[in-house]
Amino acid sequence: MSQPIIETQHLYKRFGQVTALEDINIQIEQGEFVSIMGASGSGKTTLMNILTGLDTASEGKVILDGVDAAQLDETGRQRFRAEKIGLIFQQFHLIPYLTALENVMLAQHYHSVVDEAAARAVLAQVGLEHRVDHRPSQLSGGEQQRVCIARALVNQPPVIFADEPTGNLDEKNEKLVLDLLIELNRQGRTIVMVTHNPELGKVTARTIFLQHGKFLKEERNEN
Ligand SMILES: Nc1ncnc2c1ncn2[C@@H]1O[C@H](COP(=O)(O)OP(=O)(O)OP(=O)(O)O)[C@@H](O)[C@H]1O
Ligand SMILES: [Mg+2]
Repeated sequence: MSQPIIETQHLYKRFGQVTALEDINIQIEQGEFVSIMGASGSGKTTLMNILTGLDTASEGKVILDGVDAAQLDETGRQRFRAEKIGLIFQQFHLIPYLTALENVMLAQHYHSVVDEAAARAVLAQVGLEHRVDHRPSQLSGGEQQRVCIARALVNQPPVIFADEPTGNLDEKNEKLVLDLLIELNRQGRTIVMVTHNPELGKVTARTIFLQHGKFLKEERNEN
């Protein structure tokens, strides 16, 4: 079997007295669409933050695309994140005074390649070619989330992490964003999505359930 694109080994995270993650051992294969579910406080965001290098583990290992994040220095970690990881959040985290196009190009800047045509192309891919010069306040919630997806895609990362990507959206926009993620997965991207919504979880091939910071179970979904 090929090496998993994401793997954790005996991963622990402690915040003072709180053990947010306890002995997490997961493997995610290249091209998988995986959802992570669990009650509020079960450790989903903590796990995402560690998998994406936004936070570090207290113990154990995270290996992403063959690289052990702990072996990198700060510069190496930043480059690694820019090249390997696309991030989509529930709160969109767009820069308010920049246009959609500029927000996407800012992500290219961190990647040290700036290519306006490529930024326009990903905005077109998410259906926003007519909105490139709008600032976030001039866009609907669903449109803002699509700018975030374009921003996550622009450096062509092999893995996309989405933490409650539809948490702030109505049903119609939720479906739009979900369809976009499904399409990206069909194109070969590995996607890891945190969700509270069992209906969303079902569209992914596999759901990992956390409970009180521990791996509870996993389910394969028919779809
Ligand atoms: N920076 C922190 N300092 C202290 N405790 C923290 C910190 N971040 C998270 N925790 C604790 O770790 C546990 C897991 O939190 P986490 O945010 O990962 O949960 P979650 O599953 O994402 O919940 P939600 O569904 O509400 O987003 C919680 O008990 C939380 O209070
Ligand atoms: Mg969370």
